[in-house]
This record gives sequence, C-alpha cells and structure tokens, in this order.
Amino acid sequence: MQILPTKILVTGAQGLLGSNLCARLRGHYETLGLVRSFRPEAAYEGIDYVEGDIADRNTVISLLKKFHPKYIINAAAYTHVDACEHEREQCWKVNAEAVGHLAAGARMIDARIVTVSTDYVFDGKAGPYRESDKPNPLGYYGKSKLASENEVRLSGADYAIARTMVLYGTAPAARPNFVTWLIDMLQQGREVRIVDDQYGNPTLASELAEALIALMRSTHSGVYHISGSEMLSRYDFACQIAEVFGLDAGLISRIKTSELGQAAPRPLRSGFIIEKAVQDLGITMSGSREGLLKFQQEMELQQHRLV
Ligand SMILES: NC(=O)c1ccc[n+]([C@@H]2O[C@H](COP(=O)([O-])OP(=O)(O)OC[C@H]3O[C@@H](n4cnc5c(N)ncnc54)[C@H](OP(=O)(O)O)[C@@H]3O)[C@@H](O)[C@H]2O)c1
Repeated sequence: MQILPTKILVTGAQGLLGSNLCARLRGHYETLGLVRSFRPEAAYEGIDYVEGDIADRNTVISLLKKFHPKYIINAAAYTHVDACEHEREQCWKVNAEAVGHLAAGARMIDARIVTVSTDYVFDGKAGPYRESDKPNPLGYYGKSKLASENEVRLSGADYAIARTMVLYGTAPAARPNFVTWLIDMLQQGREVRIVDDQYGNPTLASELAEALIALMRSTHSGVYHISGSEMLSRYDFACQIAEVFGLDAGLISRIKTSELGQAAPRPLRSGFIIEKAVQDLGITMSGSREGLLKFQQEMELQQHRLV
C-alpha cells in the first residue's frame, strides 16, 4: 500500500516567515504555497506554488476543497503597519476577513489551521505579556489581527493562534527587515536613529517556523506567545547587531518613538512570556544575541542557497 505524504497549505509562502516554513517543510510534507504573485527567484524546489488572493473567499474555498490539506498555516498578512492606518479596507480584508475564509474552509474539510498574530494586539503599557492578558490594540493593524484571532476562534475549526513579534531572518529574495536594514545602513557607514523606548523580543524567523510546525503537529488549541526568549529595547538590539556583525555602533543614536511621527501608534512596553509554548511544545527559543549568531550562519548558507 502506498503511503501518501501529509498535505499542507502555507499562505504567504514567499514572505519572510512563509519562506522559512517552506524551507523546513519541503521533503517532509506535500506542501502547496499560496502566493499573491509568484516570484521564481524566491521559490524553493520541492514546493508547489499557486497564485491567489486570500481575501477572495471563492479562491480560498475552492483551493482548499481541491487540494484538501490536513494542515493550513496562515503566514500571509498585510504587514505594513503604518499603511494599515489609511488603507483600512484592504488591511481588514487581508488580515481579518481572509482568515475567516481560511478558517471556514478548514472547518469544511476538517483541516487544522494555525494562524500567525502579533504583539500589536496589546497596548504596550504592561509587557511582557502572557496569553491570558487582555488585548487592547492601539492601531488598525493590531485591531485587524485581533479580529483575525476571533475569526478562527469562532469558526469551529481545529485551530491554534501563534502571536509573535519583531521578526527577522533570511529568505531568498526577501524584503528587508529591521536586522538586514540596519546591517545594510551600517555597512554603508550611514548614521541611524533607533528608538530606545520600544521593548520587545526579537524573533528569528527560522526558529519561529520550527515552533509553528511543532504547534501544527500538536493537538494544542488556543493562543501561544512564540518569540525570542529575551526582551530588550530596539536601541539595545541595534547595538547588539552592530557588535555581532563587527559594525560601528557609534553610528547608532537614540530617539524616542514620539519623535518619529509614524502613522500607527506602537505598543512601547511589549514583550512576551513564552513559558506556555516552551512547556507545551517542547521548543527552545534563542535569546537575542544567540539568535543573531544563528542568523549570521543562516546568511552565509543563504548565499550558497543551502537553506
Ligand atoms: N514582521 C514582523 O515583525 C511581525 C511581527 C509580528 C507578527 N507578524 C506576523 O507574522 C506573519 C508573517 O509576517 P512576515 O514578516 O513573514 O510578513 P511578509 O514578509 O510581509 O509576508 C507576508 C506575505 O503575505 C502575502 N500577502 C499579502 N496579502 C496577500 C493576499 N491578499 N493574498 C495572498 N497573499 C498575500 C504577501 O505577498 P506580497 O509580497 O505579494 O504582498 C507576503 O508574501 C504575519 O501574520 C504578520 O502579521 C510579523
């Protein structure tokens, strides 16, 4: 008798997290990556890709009925936090309603759905946060992600929600993230101003991907906080990046969030307590320096396309 591989649908499959998931799922699962617009330079061998808009209910439902995955990992989102303040309709469609379509489809075909949320569901007044703390999003992005959590929770599907924060990492043809942007600026000898009043746990995308796969395979339901294990200010993180990569930390100066005039308000004292995920899933998440050292190795492998 032929044993068929387990099927997984990954949305946002060419985003930072989605790519890191695909890199770890290929060869083990029959993985279909849903992308809005396929980029060959960001594709992994061993993954099938399909184009589609997760905000389109018909696309999502017919894809799920046709492919019939056992698991769905939703790593797609409208992630431009400031743009969400004025592109409200699109933000809500992608971040909230689309998750409802995926969860409804999951229920229909009896699949388990794991969706990714954010620390921006909190107001940042009393971090680090546990899963049992009450959300109070400040901006539209956070509101839309909290709505997405409610969509899956009320869908009747087998689900888990993973909240994460300050994601960085490497992926083929990836857009810049905080760490890659900072390295680039410092390598060019440019001065940067970094906020010293925003606290959070930097999270390496590859570690998050592994944790999500563990969550997917588990039978645990509900919300999980999954991030790097250490909380620090963005300024301190920037100085650590400079140190690990042998760059000039003297180019980094402090600034307050209020001076930036960003469209979306930020939760300042955020951060996660990740005890529940560590205990229930048996995962280990790096502290910030350890994460950066791992990231450095990943960048070298990425250059040779070995991850
Ligand atoms: N990055 C962070 O610091 C951070 C922090 C907390 C939580 N998160 C959450 O973590 C998850 C992954 O984030 P990430 O950093 O990997 O984001 P990312 O790199 O921006 O990837 C998101 C992906 O979603 C795709 N997408 C957007 N709209 C879509 C649509 N309508 N239909 C299909 N695909 C669509 C994007 O495609 P295009 O490239 O074509 O737009 C992109 O590939 C998200 O749920 C995010 O909210 C991220």
